[in-house]
Parts: sequence; structure tokens; C-alpha cells
Amino acid sequence: MTRHATQPIDGQKPGTSGLRKKTRMFMQPGYLENFVQSIFDGIGGAAGKTFVVGGDGRYFNAEAIQTILKMAAANGAARVIVGQDGLLSTPAASHLIRLNKTDGGIILSASHNPGGPDEDFGVKFNTPNGGPAPEGVTNAIFARTKEIDAYHKLDVADVDLGTLGETSVGDMAVTVVDPVADYEALMASIFDFGAIRAMIAGGFTISFDAMHAVTGPYATKIIEGTLGAPAGSVVNGTPSPDFGGGHPDPNPVWAKTLMDRMMGPNAPDFGAASDGDGDRNMIVGRGCYVSPSDSLAVLAANATHIPAYAKGLAGVARSMPTSAAADRVAEKLGIGIYETPTGWKFFGNLLDAGKVTICGEESAGTGSDHVREKDGLWAVLFWLNLLAARKASVAEVMQDHWATYGRNYYTRLDYEAVPTEAASALMDGVRDRLGALPGQSFAGLTVEKADEFSYHDPVDGSESHGQGLRIWYEGGARAVLRTSGTGTEGATIRCYLEAFDGEVLDDPTKLDAVRAATMELAGFQSHIGRTEPDVTT
Ligand code: G6P
Ligand code: ZN
Repeated sequence: MTRHATQPIDGQKPGTSGLRKKTRMFMQPGYLENFVQSIFDGIGGAAGKTFVVGGDGRYFNAEAIQTILKMAAANGAARVIVGQDGLLSTPAASHLIRLNKTDGGIILSASHNPGGPDEDFGVKFNTPNGGPAPEGVTNAIFARTKEIDAYHKLDVADVDLGTLGETSVGDMAVTVVDPVADYEALMASIFDFGAIRAMIAGGFTISFDAMHAVTGPYATKIIEGTLGAPAGSVVNGTPSPDFGGGHPDPNPVWAKTLMDRMMGPNAPDFGAASDGDGDRNMIVGRGCYVSPSDSLAVLAANATHIPAYAKGLAGVARSMPTSAAADRVAEKLGIGIYETPTGWKFFGNLLDAGKVTICGEESAGTGSDHVREKDGLWAVLFWLNLLAARKASVAEVMQDHWATYGRNYYTRLDYEAVPTEAASALMDGVRDRLGALPGQSFAGLTVEKADEFSYHDPVDGSESHGQGLRIWYEGGARAVLRTSGTGTEGATIRCYLEAFDGEVLDDPTKLDAVRAATMELAGFQSHIGRTEPDVTT
């Protein structure tokens, strides 16, 4: 029997990046099955289709993949391409979806959130362009979760995913692929591996922290193998189901060991880290942290040093809360700049339409039209290639960049696990006053304008409302407030702060005024009882 009666389960609404919940929730009988069946139903069925399936190796990854394979087979899928041992980084999965011209893919990850039985798990569907399903598709999937009455699953033994090559589940073909091989070939087609290899052979030192997550095998093969960096250049390179008990989130807080090393006396020339599923990145030079917003701007400004982008960029896109540093580069280059809501899925149409080549977000994501996901290792290789081409250090590149374009000082404050009502009260309190704020002063700063961001997609004409509250202050500073769409506990309020300076390029107090003004304006103390964030990036 392959048909199993079921009932709708509340709360299976995909967020910023698929359905993300506590692992134990996913492990409840029928929970994963309901959602996966809703994916198949929401996209018009799986019969005769080919999918890519893989995940970041976190706790429950292996079991979930077996379930998905048995369900795909029972739903009549023709073939599933799966990474060996069920592993695929998110960008590698995106590439395989495109390379094999499949009907999409199912990616298992909760990205940078911790893994384990008491931590997080996630499932998302990517469309045939390789990108996260757009809202039209996720809405159809969600609608299906509310009316589902049965799922289909073969009752067969688990399939061996440890051996490369062809196998099967029922009548469905299963191709087990090396997770790294096709991805590495893609990287080799984009970057000047010879130049990077020569730089490393000349003594350039690297520390890449894979954070016990999926990029370990990728970075070890490419950086230590092909590019010739000495063994040990990749640290924490073996994926573990709970990421060594840590948060696989590449930022100065969670990648503190790397940060300390890079700021210390024996720092290597270049430090980098990636997240649970390999789509995020952190770049840090000797004594010099590069903010994700700045990284995007630097990549755009230096794109012609990279073989694949030597002819220049069609345009650049950034999420709304990301700083305007990239805008200054785009303006100088005379290319398009697009501002989208938070979430990589919003870049898909712009990339497909050829309007932009490079995209980035303040949340440590950068990528290009080579896949339809952000790509951590791609960003690392891009930096290595540009350093090799320019024969400069990270710090020199940053100084030069700021001297040319001015500096967009930037920080993000995260308030995690805030009771939902308190977070809503804070956000509603600002939203209700948006019209009245201009002209009012807070902690000495006067509001110039304020609004709530809505996005009009220039490619398909769709509208997305309620995408963040924006406050501009006199003097050019900006604050953005929004609640995270990826948290799994209470609400996470994100407060993004930005201030521009074209002259003073190293002033640690530059964001103090906009921070104080925004704390007062939004009433952080009165609504949530604190102004100190849990995480500052
Ligand atoms: C994921 C998405 C990104 C997004 C980030 C933060 O990594 O892929 O596109 O920027 O989450 O989202 P959040 O809603 O938590 O701010
Ligand atoms: Zn991720």
C-alpha cells in the first residue's frame, strides 16, 4: 500500500527560506510526509519528473532523504539525483538542478541554525531554474498543506546512498553523485584557478572555517586539493550532524575563533567561513573584517578581474536592508541596481531576465547568475581571485574601496526569542506612526522620512508588501526594522543601521547616533525590556 491517509497539520507555511521548524516537529509521524506531498501536489504532481535531493548533513538529514525518495517513487517520479551520503551544499544543489535540466529539487537544511534533535531542521523546494520557489509556488504548497488528506510512500527498504552510481527505489531511478565534482567544475569555469594557485604557492596563507558543516568536503577538495593550500588550511572540515554543537553561522559572533585568529599576531593572509548549507560566507583579512554589504560592493567593483565577469556586469541587486555601498559602485559603473525584499528568492527573476549578474544580502550572502542561490565558496574564490589579480591584501582593497566610494558604516542588531506579542507591539507602534515621524527628533536625530517597504517585481509584476519599516534621518543615516522570517522560537527583531561618510573612513562611533535614535523611536526598552541585542553583526 502506498497511499496513507493523513490530515492537515497547522503551521506548514514556508517562510523566508522554506519550512523551518524544530527537528522534533519534523520527526513527528506524517509531518515531513505531509509537507513533501504538498510540494509534489503544489507543483502539479511528480509523475515522470526528475528532481535533485540533498541536504547539509544535519541530524535527521539521512532519514528525511530516505522518506523523500520513497515518496517521490510512489508519486511516479522518473529519477532523483542525490548527493552521496545525502550531502549537497545548497549552491551545489542549485547547480545540479540547472545542469541536469531537472524539474526542481528538494533541499534539506535549516541553513545557519544549529542542528540536532532539539535544534532546527528545514525543507525547501527549488524550481527548475535552480532557485528557491517564488511566493506563487510556496503559496500553492501552503494551500495544499491545509487540505491534504493522503500522502504516497513506498514501503521498501532504504536505498544505499554511500555508493556512487545508479540505483533505484521501486520503479524510480536514483543517481548518486559526487557532491563536489560538478560544483568544482563550475567554479573552475568562472575563476582563474591558475592565478589563485600561484598566489598560494607564493606563500599566501588561508584559514577557511567550514564550521563542521557541508562546505568541509568542498573546501578541502578545492582549496587544499586543487588550489594547493597546505593541509590544515580548512578547519572544522568534517560535517557533523550537530555542527560540533555550535551555530554554523559565519559571522563575528559564531565564528569567533576564526575572528580572534585573524585579529591576532599570527593571522593568515585570508580568513573565511561558510554556514550549515554552504550558501553564506564571511570574509576577513588580517586585522580586517569585511561586512557582507561591503563585500557585495567590492565584488561588483572588481568583477572584471574575474574571467567569467570580465566583460562587466549587467546589474547588481541587493536586499533592502543591505547597505547602499553597492549602489555607489553601480552608479559609477553605470549599471542597474535593484532593491528587493529579504530572501534570495526575490533575485531569481532579475537573474533569469538577465537584469543583474551579482546579488547580495547583509545576511552574509553573495552570489551570481552561475546558480540561483547565494554561494559561500564562490564568494571566497571570488575574493581569492581578485586578491591574486590585484596583488593586494584584504585591508588594502578595503581602504582603496572606501577612498574611492566613501564608506557606508553598517551594523545589524538582532533581538532573539522575543515574545511574539511584544515584537508585534514594537513593530506596530512604529508602523502606526510612520506618517507622523518626519520632523520628529529622537536622541538628537530628526527623522526625514519613513515608510514600509513594498516591492514591485519588474519582471513578473508581482507585489510584496510589508517588507520592513524604513526610517531615514537627516544627515543620511537610515534604520530598518523587520522581523525575521527564519527564526523558529518566538520572534527575532532585526534592527539594521547605516550611516554614510565620504571623508572619515575609520570612525567607530559613526553609528552611535542612529542607534540611540532608533532605540528611542521604536521604544525597545519599553516594549521588550532591553536595548542590548543578542547578536551584533
Ligand atoms: C536566509 C535567506 C536569506 C535571508 C536570510 C535572513 O539565509 O536565504 O535570503 O536574507 O535568511 O532572513 P531573515 O528573514 O531571518 O532576516
Ligand atoms: Zn545557508
